Amino acid sequence: MSDADLSQKIESFSLVCVTPWNASPAAVARTEALAEWFACPRVPRKRRSLARIFADEGVDGVLVAEDPPRLYHRTRPNEPFFFHPGVARPRLAALSHGIPDRLLRVAGICPGDVIVDATLGTGADSLVLAAGAGPAGRVIAIESSFVLAKLFTWAQQQRGHGYPGIDRLLERIDVQWGHHAELLASMPAGSADVVYFDPMFRNPIVDEDGNIEHARPWTDPRPISDEAWNEAQRVARRCVVLKERPQSDQFARFGLTPDKSRAKIAYGVWKKGG
Ligand SMILES: C[S@@+](CC[C@H](N)C(=O)[O-])C[C@H]1O[C@@H](n2cnc3c(N)ncnc32)[C@H](O)[C@@H]1O
Repeated sequence: MSDADLSQKIESFSLVCVTPWNASPAAVARTEALAEWFACPRVPRKRRSLARIFADEGVDGVLVAEDPPRLYHRTRPNEPFFFHPGVARPRLAALSHGIPDRLLRVAGICPGDVIVDATLGTGADSLVLAAGAGPAGRVIAIESSFVLAKLFTWAQQQRGHGYPGIDRLLERIDVQWGHHAELLASMPAGSADVVYFDPMFRNPIVDEDGNIEHARPWTDPRPISDEAWNEAQRVARRCVVLKERPQSDQFARFGLTPDKSRAKIAYGVWKKGG
């Protein structure tokens, strides 16, 4: 598939929105609001199974108006994706006990920082970065998948679906839907302290970060482009951080040294001026 075709696919997944199996008046109202939020049709449930809805409607995804909303992809009809803080929860809990977070440490995040998370995904890293940036800082979180960007911003307007302590972090995250190379190109030089990339791994890590694995059919699988990397270097005042597998050739590609060689994941840091 060409780059342009892939962009088009990621931006235009076809969806329908339905009520849950037992539709309360609140769920009916949520179905209407969600259909509007995702700009997708709302179709009658008519006591149809998900398999039946996929067959009848011929769409990529079905959004079931539960709280939080559950998104099913036709290739994974038993693995809904929905907003939850996921791996951010234990990391935030550790931070609250004074245990440093590896990403915040390698990126040198300080209170008041402006951080570009160029790959929002489920938003777990954005939440941790927002905690590190504190009330005076902010996170600009970019996501090219319309569906993922919309699911996260729905959670923001629902105030985190009741996860304690998450609301104040969600408020510090400004989600921008689009390709990070283009959005970074539109930002002034030196307008962020740190730019962070966490692209999709070619080989999924099965026992870690299950939430992004459930989101995989909705994600943009492309590696970081040279253009995106160059723009990140221009926009960052302090550093650009890349998360990858330790063995990934992407570290050498950008002249980075992974911080760990035997772990499941590694970070590489490019520092401005040195
Ligand atoms: C591995 S996930 C990021 C996970 C994230 N750090 C988290 O904590 O959930 C990578 C995300 O980046 C998005 N992505 C990939 N290429 C992108 C691009 N060019 N612009 C914006 N987002 C992109 C994918 O759609 C996917 O959601």
